[in-house]
Amino acid sequence: MGSQRTLRPGSGRTALLLAGLLVALWQRCAASCPEKDLEDREEEANIVLTGTVDEIINMDPVHNTYSCKVRVWRYLKGKSTVNREILLDGGNKVMIGGFGNPGICDNRVATGDTRIFFLNPAPESMGPEHKNELMLNSSLMRITLRNLEDVEHCVEDGPTLLLNHAIDTVT
Ligand SMILES: *[C@@H]1O[C@H](CO)[C@@H](O)[C@H](O)[C@H]1NC(C)=O
Repeated sequence: MGSQRTLRPGSGRTALLLAGLLVALWQRCAASCPEKDLEDREEEANIVLTGTVDEIINMDPVHNTYSCKVRVWRYLKGKSTVNREILLDGGNKVMIGGFGNPGICDNRVATGDTRIFFLNPAPESMGPEHKNELMLNSSLMRITLRNLEDVEHCVEDGPTLLLNHAIDTVT
């Protein structure tokens, strides 16, 4: 009977260790940037495309934001929203603003980076300097087969899109 009341040696330490681990995990999660579900991100973005950063421009030294000229590989969503005024350099490039936006978790690129971009046309309220610019709406996404499949699944387009992208990238 009496033995039931004695704690196993080390169990107190184990509990402490577990508590410490939980705190560490919690801090990690709290510190990381909260990201919406891909489904919601796809829903909020009227344009989703894959492209490569060609040039970084309009670096704002105060807010640390910038725009990029991006060479478009493929539209995963909203191609018809991208009109002639938005297209640059003969039609295969667009200007994307909003890099460095602290409201977006993964918000930075370098020249030559290829990503999936979740975008919306810049609202008129942003002023004439953003006219015909597309704005980053949520985090940049790396191009992997898995990511492309996930995005395509959200957009609910056919699997041909993936094949076409592979062909585009190779050729
Ligand atoms: C993304 O677009 C939605 C509208 O679809 C808007 O409400 C939201 O504020 C935008 N997010 C950012 C970071 O611009």
